[in-house]
Amino acid sequence: MALEDEAQVSEAQIAVHWREEEYYQPPTKFIGQANASDPEILERFGEDRFPECFKDYADLLTWDHYWHTTLDTSNPPFWKWFVGGRLNASYNCVDRHLKRDPNKAALVWVPEPEEELTQAITYRELYQRVNEFAALLQGFCGTETGDRVTFHLPMVPELPVAMLACARLGVVHSQVFGGFSGAACGGRIADSQSRILVTMDGYYRNGELVDHKVKADEAVERAREEGVEVEKVLVWRRHPGQYASKSPMVPGRDFFVDEVMPDYRGKLVDPVSMPAEAPLFIMYSSGTTGRPKGCQHSTGGYLAYVAGTSKYYQDIHPEDTYWCAADIGWITGHSYIVYGPLALGTTSVMYEGVPTYPDAGRPWRIAERLGVNIFHTAPTTIRMLRKLGPDEPAKYDYHFKHMTTVGEPIEPEVWRWYYDVVGKGEAAIVDTWWQTENGGFLGSTLPALQPMKPGSCGPGVLGIYPVIYDEEGNEVEAGSGKAGNICIRNPWPGIFQTIWGDPDRFVSTYYEKYCRDRDSKDWHDWPYFANDGAMQAADGYFRILGRVDDVINVAGHRLGTKELESAAVMVEEIAEAAAVPVVDEMRGRAVEMYVALKPGVAPSKEVEDKVARMIETEIGKIARPKNVWIVPDMPKTRSGKIMRRVIAGISNFTDVGDTSTLANPEVVEDIREHVQGEKTARGEVPKELSAKDQEEIRQFGQAE
Ligand code: PRX
Repeated sequence: MALEDEAQVSEAQIAVHWREEEYYQPPTKFIGQANASDPEILERFGEDRFPECFKDYADLLTWDHYWHTTLDTSNPPFWKWFVGGRLNASYNCVDRHLKRDPNKAALVWVPEPEEELTQAITYRELYQRVNEFAALLQGFCGTETGDRVTFHLPMVPELPVAMLACARLGVVHSQVFGGFSGAACGGRIADSQSRILVTMDGYYRNGELVDHKVKADEAVERAREEGVEVEKVLVWRRHPGQYASKSPMVPGRDFFVDEVMPDYRGKLVDPVSMPAEAPLFIMYSSGTTGRPKGCQHSTGGYLAYVAGTSKYYQDIHPEDTYWCAADIGWITGHSYIVYGPLALGTTSVMYEGVPTYPDAGRPWRIAERLGVNIFHTAPTTIRMLRKLGPDEPAKYDYHFKHMTTVGEPIEPEVWRWYYDVVGKGEAAIVDTWWQTENGGFLGSTLPALQPMKPGSCGPGVLGIYPVIYDEEGNEVEAGSGKAGNICIRNPWPGIFQTIWGDPDRFVSTYYEKYCRDRDSKDWHDWPYFANDGAMQAADGYFRILGRVDDVINVAGHRLGTKELESAAVMVEEIAEAAAVPVVDEMRGRAVEMYVALKPGVAPSKEVEDKVARMIETEIGKIARPKNVWIVPDMPKTRSGKIMRRVIAGISNFTDVGDTSTLANPEVVEDIREHVQGEKTARGEVPKELSAKDQEEIRQFGQAE
């Protein structure tokens, strides 16, 4: 460790002072109907019952062959769940509901244009569509069990259909968030070695029909540069028969699904019986290094975990109308729009567009019209709806029994608006903490049994035993008022299996830090390091402070600083780049880039724009920096490391900490004057930051 680092206080030593919030009790009416209302369930999932307690979740599924071993720990930390079992995820989410409820809506899709009619897709119809697309993948594309297929699809029913069609064949799907750029999609195609890309010509966003197919051309090009040739691009049309993109179809490579489909109409494909530990999908996420991590999720363990948590934490009953307003391009959508709710045979609502289009009453009109009774969204959306339409919910006659928040910390005052105004005081709220890697929830209250506390996610969920460690691996006591690194002591069925193609990185990122014995086959020696800072109150509830690695959480989306920086240095004038978070009222965090120019290059607005554009091209619009600051030099340690916490402090108008150990302390004042002067002129001076936000900024960039 460099000398200058030793002077810094470690995460775990920081005492956090904030007011503990009051408890809110779940409504009596909710408790009366809840799936988990008997406290005995907490004992059933007690540590003494681990791992057998998860039989409860596995038994929510239909197995072709029942499993013989709950948890195999013979090759840590590559855990295997429900070994010996065979099942098919598509069968579990579709076919098995046909007997009881063939004509009940599985998916209700709400297009963004309000004049376009809602589509209800029954389980029977979903079965047909899934089979037909599976037949097309098999017959037209020659995909086989174990192949990977990449989707770059927006929020349209074709996305869950494609996912379930792959699952039917045992083909591993990899959906790239539709808002990501073509280049980002291409990198993920190459990493997963997909030969097939499934996309759409366009989709509606904020009232516009966005040209999406153009990204497919960039994606194929980028994949080729990285050594992977895409053989076929399947293009769904948002309006079948009418092409919405300016990008030409490449003969022999690009095909309209609506033109190929007639050959497969009415075809059925038997679901392939897959081993429980066969991969179901890959979902890419950001981490410390520039390359996104392909999180590989299993079939049996994952599906059991999302079904179980959907039942007990989302309180989904088959007769509910459940709306998770996330994008299926993120893990939340995979687990809690598609796999969990459909495994339980409920009605899952999907919405194509922006929640505030055409106005901030839209979500509540959807809820009223469809009779939604469970609602699930992220703090960034709640903040936006609160700002733009604080009184809108009261105008609509809908009633939620249950609401969820996910993806980032929620401010207690925002939580209270959610509870009082959106939930009309009638709904139980769960604040669910988890990650792409985890498959399903890790921290949350059981909605009928554990009271809510604004700003805290709650204790570990059933069968999850979290712990907070300091940097040395000592346990940080609950109620000590100290923060540390939150870890999960035990494996669980939803945990990802590995990083696609990079098992060493899987071990080093998540297990190395707190592993007690590399040779041990006992799971107790392998705590999972979540890369989040947290503290635990005396009541056992966790408050998540944010990432301890170099990840910036923008509107609930993980962006790696290294990814942002690698994109910035692709601009030829740029010598060095550093990305830092700025606290943002709406999105939680926004990105600011600091760049140093190559010798002889003069600073200009043009260069700043080039950097912003490059980030948009390489990653996507959501990563576009709020500001790009050209600086003469970056503040650096004597070992040459950029001190991101110093520039993060400048961007946020907070204390930059000790700069005496820098190799070039004199640059700090210059940068501060320039940046803070500009920001003041632009009216970008933040309100005073909360203690928690100040800490995050102070800690930023310490992970290397
Ligand atoms: O820092 C935590 C934050 O989001 C990160 C995971 O992001 P991602 O993999 O994109 O998954 C998001 C949806 C599961 C975490 O490491 N985070 C997630 N949920 C919460 C949260 N922070 C505070 N409270 C939450 N409920």
